[in-house]
Amino acid sequence: MVSEHTPSTTSSASPASQVLVASNRGPVSYTLGEDGTLDAKRGGGGLVSGLSAVDDKLWVCAALGDGDREAVRRGVGEPGVRMLDIDAEVHADAYNGIANSVLWFVHHMLYQTPVEPVFDAEFRRQWAAYETYNRAFARALAEEAEPGASVLVQDYHLALAPGMLRELRPDLRIGHFSHTPWAPVDYFRLLPDDIAEQLLHGILGADRAAFLTRRWADAFIGCCTEILGGTGRTRIGVHGLGADADFLRERAHEPDVDERMAALREQVGEGRKTIVRVDRTELSKNIVRGLHAYRALLEARPEWRERVVHIAFAYPSRQDLAVYRDYTAAVQSLATEINGQYGTESWTPVVLHVKDDFARSLAAYRLADVALVNPIRDGMNLVAKEVPVVSDQGCALVLSREAGAYEELGEDAIVVNPYDVTGTADALHEALTMSGDERSGRTKRLAEAATALPPQAWFLEQLEALRQDELPR
Ligand code: F6P
Repeated sequence: MVSEHTPSTTSSASPASQVLVASNRGPVSYTLGEDGTLDAKRGGGGLVSGLSAVDDKLWVCAALGDGDREAVRRGVGEPGVRMLDIDAEVHADAYNGIANSVLWFVHHMLYQTPVEPVFDAEFRRQWAAYETYNRAFARALAEEAEPGASVLVQDYHLALAPGMLRELRPDLRIGHFSHTPWAPVDYFRLLPDDIAEQLLHGILGADRAAFLTRRWADAFIGCCTEILGGTGRTRIGVHGLGADADFLRERAHEPDVDERMAALREQVGEGRKTIVRVDRTELSKNIVRGLHAYRALLEARPEWRERVVHIAFAYPSRQDLAVYRDYTAAVQSLATEINGQYGTESWTPVVLHVKDDFARSLAAYRLADVALVNPIRDGMNLVAKEVPVVSDQGCALVLSREAGAYEELGEDAIVVNPYDVTGTADALHEALTMSGDERSGRTKRLAEAATALPPQAWFLEQLEALRQDELPR
């Protein structure tokens, strides 16, 4: 799915084949062992799989921890990856201070506005670090890119980089992709005026700015129109990243997943239904209200007691930020409270795991009767797309209307307002009582919609659209 805001003209020269990707988190990370050895860990995800479709490529990313920094210093690295050793304090201010505590909060509308945000001198200091961090990426990309190469800049961490790169290298084709929602203009305007303008101009330095859904693209266009008077020459695209069906189906049937299914079945107990959720422990994922909704279900419909188990995987995320640590603690304490209130000797109402384990997530996807995906706001939410693909017996999907995935999956999901705990409890009941036939029919249609644009096609679609655009200024 590609939709262009402004019509593009056909290019007269054939673009260079080199493709550069820029993102904060790279495809590989290093841990420094006590004996001084470096252990490399490769990551997954849409970009890794998308970029594998391209031969001539370079991924520019930031060194995130001590292991990464040590790898850069020792000259250890993977071919096709350039890690930038940006000063650790500059990185922390840019990543934790601005990207995760301001831009993430704005786009996911997470502020408690009576008391926050406060844009003071400390914010301005961190903003300067965000500029420095973006400039480091722009410089590295300008250095590495062949004439006319395509550069795909990722996410809110790097909103200024396209504009900075455009100034250094007017010959490049530059795309920017937002993996988050985009804030509606009234909320975006919480930002100081000059910062709001700088962010929009930064992204508009790209030839194309792309989003996961039409809704986020329209919000961006709305901000540009209201604040700057328009989007200028930048074209706007929408590419809805889908689930990687081949990979998931194969991976979900490996022996380690079978083992974990057996362990989970044991924890759930014979003959009980399961409500499954898998998330990073992220404020926008709404895990706490999900638990409240489950408690409301047990309270309002006692017939479900002893007959259902809520399997909740809440994996650690951004633990440098106090608000994330507090949120993790809130999830754990509410799960304990529910288990204390309703649990019996033979029944644990909530099975909560906080240690990341991909094989166990797939096991839970396979045996889920109901999947609960209730974010406050989410760019896409791939869990909503992955569960129907992997599910063994068909799974009813309870889905927030504020997730990007709602645009494609809304018809066959049971849709909820994520703030409405009573409504979510009712939706859980409806999902648990859905007939087998209806469940499998819906799961089949959900899986089809979820896999419409798998990662490689998603990536190539963006690249193609960027190359077809008129030559850069
Ligand atoms: O949704 C935006 C995003 O950058 C995703 O691509 C990714 O899943 C998530 O945030 C990860 O965040 P972090 O790199 O801070 O762990």
